[in-house]
Amino acid sequence: MGTWIRVENIMTPECERVVHLLTSARRVVVLSGAGMSQESGVPTFRDAQHGLWAQYDPMELATAAAFGRAPARVFGWYLWRHRLVQQAEPHAGHLALAALAQTFSGFTVVTQNVDGLHRRAGSEDVIELHGALDAFRCFDAGHPFDAAELSDLAVPESGEVRPPLCSTCGSPIRPGVVWFGESLPTGAFERASAAVRDADASVVVGTSAVVYPAAALPEMAVSTGIPVIEINPEPTPLSSLATVSWMTTAGAALSELAAALGVPVPRDG
Ligand code: OAD
Repeated sequence: MGTWIRVENIMTPECERVVHLLTSARRVVVLSGAGMSQESGVPTFRDAQHGLWAQYDPMELATAAAFGRAPARVFGWYLWRHRLVQQAEPHAGHLALAALAQTFSGFTVVTQNVDGLHRRAGSEDVIELHGALDAFRCFDAGHPFDAAELSDLAVPESGEVRPPLCSTCGSPIRPGVVWFGESLPTGAFERASAAVRDADASVVVGTSAVVYPAAALPEMAVSTGIPVIEINPEPTPLSSLATVSWMTTAGAALSELAAALGVPVPRDG
């Protein structure tokens, strides 16, 4: 009887190209969006069926004016999302990125995500362009508010929760995310642009690349001429400009990449 040989770890052609592109890179910038967290069970925004913006109107939930009109509705929605991401865990792709950082002299993760999963996976150089869900603060003065104080707040069926008031100035507490029409956190875009300018290669993962100014960063990478590696199961406006369009999930691609580069990935960060 013949002997079967199991063929494992055969590299996909996309992975082979990416390994080749990264071999000579010293500084890498990663630009991530909601698709990065999809495999952790955090919904994206623009998925036609399950995306948050398919179910909710961003103008009723993600603007300062909406918070002014209906603070309990807005606060309740963000409290729900805060709890959802607290229960979520970084997946293999987040862990692979954190591990990959060790093999380059610079490795900056610029994310549009507010879920903190890159940080929790162990990535150290992270720029959170759209803020963080857990960085609650007061609306008027920005006094910080400890998210742990929210753990006893019940969310009724209506989903509406009156925001607590700031113990310093009495202003209502809001989530630490950037709403439509607001500026990015001070210096975040400048630091992200510098990371792109300094990089020898870029990885753009899980973003529809349509929300500005974040979407200007992969465009900047294209125009500086560094390799742009896109990881996304669906095509985006960036796909035709990217050096490699790797059409698969973040978890699959980044795990394969770490294995191909011989980088061990701890299972739980
Ligand atoms: P989107 O929801 O617009 O796009 C998510 C992208 O992830 C899509 O292109 C999907 O094809 C892709 N995707 C889905 N599952 C994936 C997976 N498992 N692996 C890799 N990619 C996957 O999310 P963003 O581009 O992040 O802003 O949206 C940008 C901003 O729009 C958000 O930060 C948010 C939103 O309005 C604010 O709230 C200010």
